[in-house]
Parts: sequence; C-alpha cells; structure tokens
Amino acid sequence: MIVAIDGPAASGKSTVARAVAQALDLTFLDTGAMYRALTAAVLERGCALGDGESCARIAEELDLTFDAEGRVLVDGRADEARIRSAAVTAAVSEVAAHPAVRRALVSIQRRVAQDAPGVVAEGRDTTTVVFPGADHKFFLTATSSERARRRALQEGRPEEQDALRLEIERRDAFDSTRADSPLVRASDAVAIDTDGYDAAAVTALILARISAPAHDQQHNSGDNA
Ligand code: CDP
Repeated sequence: MIVAIDGPAASGKSTVARAVAQALDLTFLDTGAMYRALTAAVLERGCALGDGESCARIAEELDLTFDAEGRVLVDGRADEARIRSAAVTAAVSEVAAHPAVRRALVSIQRRVAQDAPGVVAEGRDTTTVVFPGADHKFFLTATSSERARRRALQEGRPEEQDALRLEIERRDAFDSTRADSPLVRASDAVAIDTDGYDAAAVTALILARISAPAHDQQHNSGDNA
C-alpha cells in the first residue's frame, strides 16, 4: 500500500506521516529530508546552487539511505541538525527545482517503495509525480502564521516566529511556481485543513479515511476528510 501526503512547508506532514506509518506498520519516506541532505552536500562542496548538472551529479554520487525510524542517512550517518539548519533551509528550494536533481531523487524514492511492503511518503510531489497511483492521497494545509507558530515551537525559537513565517512563505512561493513538479494539490487528494487540529487529530483523520469502506473513498473533494 502507498499513502502519499503532500503540502506546503511546516504543515505537519512529517509528524503525521511518521505516525500513520507506525500505526499501519509501513515504511516512512520523508522525501524533503532527501532534498535537504543533498543540499547540505551541495553547500559543503561549494557547488553553485544554480548549477543543476553539478547538483544532480552530487545527487547521483550521494549514498542516501534511511534508518529504521525513517531518518535519512548520508554515507550511513544521520545529521539532523545539519539538514534542518537555516543555511540548508534557505538553499533547498533552489536545489530541488532542478529537473535532473528530481529525476535522481525520485528514482531512489520509487526504489524504496518497491523494496518495502508499503510506504507512507510525504513531500511536495508524492501525490502527483512520484506515486500518481498511490492508494491514498492527502494534501495538508494551514495558514502560514499557524505553520510558523508550530515550527517556532518545534525549534524552541518562539521569538523568531515572524522570520520563520516569511521564510515559509518564500519557500512555498518558490516550490509552487517551479516548472518541474510544483507543489500543487492533486485533484484526487483529500484536503485537510489542519488549523486548529493537532498532529494526533490529523493522524486519526487520515487513519479513519484509509480504513473507510471503498465506496466512501469516492468523495475526495471535501475538506477534513
Ligand atoms: O519540513 P519542511 O516542510 O520545512 O520542508 P521539507 O519537507 O523538509 O522540504 C524541504 C524542501 O525540499 C521543500 O521546500 C522543497 O523545496 C523540497 N522538496 C521538494 O521539492 N519535493 C519534495 N517531494 C519534498 C521536498
């Protein structure tokens, strides 16, 4: 089974996708972490962010795997602090916009799904490009101020909420307007407005939707499943 969850920056996809994967005993696939790990390597090697060919070459050389908790590993090592750093966050959208970069990482993502009994994937294009035939598709949204509030809380930086909101809005605009695999809600994805819901409530909504009888799955257009 493939469950695909997309949505804008800091919409809670990782937390929810991880919990759904755990509940269903499926593999959690954090595609954003892969773009982040690649971007960390691009910055380390001093490669220009706009140089798509060189970024893609690094993507092909990089040994990207996952540990049992779904953390991305580069050469067998996790470095969450590095891949979530402000420098990587500021650069990742430009690296992720290169078609050759996307081809390299999407092929790894599909291989992970092939090798697992089932996956819960999350990102920007998992419902549209990576797994267009996914069994269940969701699109999580929330206002940018709510998303900034959550991210500030998560990172223990409450005083930086406004700066985080601007960064989130900048990244959303970039990710939504790129030519290759833009962030967009798939027409067959269930939209969930997460304003006012915590991660546990959104996880419960998704699990209920997945276990609903097939005839109830037809109505995908309404908000909040
Ligand atoms: O956790 P957060 O929402 O901040 O971002 P993320 O999911 O870690 O993704 C980081 C960046 O990677 C995004 O802003 C996109 O530019 C890129 N990305 C992408 O292009 N396609 C994906 N499937 C996942 C992430």
